[in-house]
Amino acid sequence: MKKLYIETVGCQMNMLDSELVVASLRKEGYELTSQTADADAILFNTCSVREHAEEKIYSALGRLKDAKRDKPERVIGVIGCMAQNHQGSVFKRAPYVDLVVGPGQLHQIPALIRDIEASGGQRIEVSLGRKDGAREDIERSHESFDPLRDPTMRPTPFQAFVRIQIGCDKFCTYCIVPSVRGPEQSRPPADILAEARQLVGEGCREVTLLGQTVNSYRYRQGETTYRFSDLLHDLHAIDGLDRIKFVTNYPKDMTDDVLAAVRDLPKVSKYLHVPVQSGSDAVLKRMKRGYTVAEYREMLQRAYEWVPGVAVTSDFIVGFCGETDEDFQLTYELVRESRFKNSFIFKYSERPGTRGASLYADDVPDEVKRRRNNELLALQNQISEEDNHRMLGQSVQVLVEGPSRASVKHEAAGPSLQLTGRTLCDRIVVFEGNPRQTGQLLDVAIYDANSHTLFGTVETDHVVGELVQLSGSGV
Ligand code: SAH
Ligand code: SF4
Ligand code: F3S
Repeated sequence: MKKLYIETVGCQMNMLDSELVVASLRKEGYELTSQTADADAILFNTCSVREHAEEKIYSALGRLKDAKRDKPERVIGVIGCMAQNHQGSVFKRAPYVDLVVGPGQLHQIPALIRDIEASGGQRIEVSLGRKDGAREDIERSHESFDPLRDPTMRPTPFQAFVRIQIGCDKFCTYCIVPSVRGPEQSRPPADILAEARQLVGEGCREVTLLGQTVNSYRYRQGETTYRFSDLLHDLHAIDGLDRIKFVTNYPKDMTDDVLAAVRDLPKVSKYLHVPVQSGSDAVLKRMKRGYTVAEYREMLQRAYEWVPGVAVTSDFIVGFCGETDEDFQLTYELVRESRFKNSFIFKYSERPGTRGASLYADDVPDEVKRRRNNELLALQNQISEEDNHRMLGQSVQVLVEGPSRASVKHEAAGPSLQLTGRTLCDRIVVFEGNPRQTGQLLDVAIYDANSHTLFGTVETDHVVGELVQLSGSGV
């Protein structure tokens, strides 16, 4: 048995890609190891969205220099978005890397590794750049391989990611994703539905649909267009599938049919990740996001009205080129009024090759970015905590994901474990239970909360029985 070590950073797309790469290498006789020292192949599945993500990979690679010297036949590979972004220059910064493979070429990895093992040398496979040919050819060069699922690589066996769209055509000026992931392409509905059915057959109960702008999904079928809401309806009809989630949404494509599907289909998560990025029209314009703050507000209002109890989350970039204190203040006010369940806040990181990098100076000092980041985070945390406190005393349905990271607790009656799971609106819930409840849908009564987590007790017949007894005995 050969051993594979794989490390994954970046978004859910990368987690799914790693699952597929592992599946393809298992077929070649590899098994996973958590130690680089044992590994015959070491792969880093990388992200280029911010400079920090890239630097972390280069320092991890730096630590592998000796690993390669000690065992030269070991194959070291850099795959994913940074491989596509930096291409051959990865070899310059880390000459002991054997393999560079972009996200559109991952299906070639088994053959490339075999090739290196047979005849040595370095190999590189990347897709065409966004200006390197006809759209059709560029699209084809980014197509990822057919799903070869590996249940052991999933967060849990009953949850899976399903790609419905690859690439992105929005070209927000700060963002590297359209150049590393290629043109936006929607997968055929029949493929998506077949994959979901296969996953359910393997015991999967929840799917998370993936796309950079998932609600822009559309597939031409002759004269008609099959929309994202059609896909939600068809997935909803699959027996045995209990929950359907999806990320990420693009504000302008949050059409009424999507909101109606979220409202009307009980299996669809009442959770929308719809990043706004900034509360200032001037900044949004420079970002080329394609909407105004007023349009985002209108969308948010519609979501709250149409889908009672919906949880909405957002991303923000602080310190984008030319962002003034007044611009930031507008973002702060937007967060205050929007009642997001959560916000992911990032300091602007200039990405060479993007329109933003060539058009605008990265002129907000790092300490200002940091201060704005902290201020916004503090406000969001306060809102998240207030909102979570509203859940106190309520009963929520939780899909149990497994033991929480916190320690195993031993009690006189036997080991009882802290479990964690999520509500239909994606709130994290921690409660005591038995590990065999993993994968089940349980009703949990919430008794405590902080900004990120709800704490509860499973509402079993047993507990109800006890309460009846207690009240019956006059206690
Ligand atoms: N497709 C998704 C986001 C993908 S990247 C969308 O359109 O919302 C995830 C998040 O990273 C973005 O929402 C943005 O907030 C952040 N991001 C992207 N490029 C960045 C950059 N150059 N610097 C800092 N944050 C960035
Ligand atoms: Fe990047 Fe914008 Fe595409 Fe999202 S929509 S991936 S932020 S270019
Ligand atoms: Fe990063 Fe690529 Fe995802 S750049 S955020 S891993 S699409």
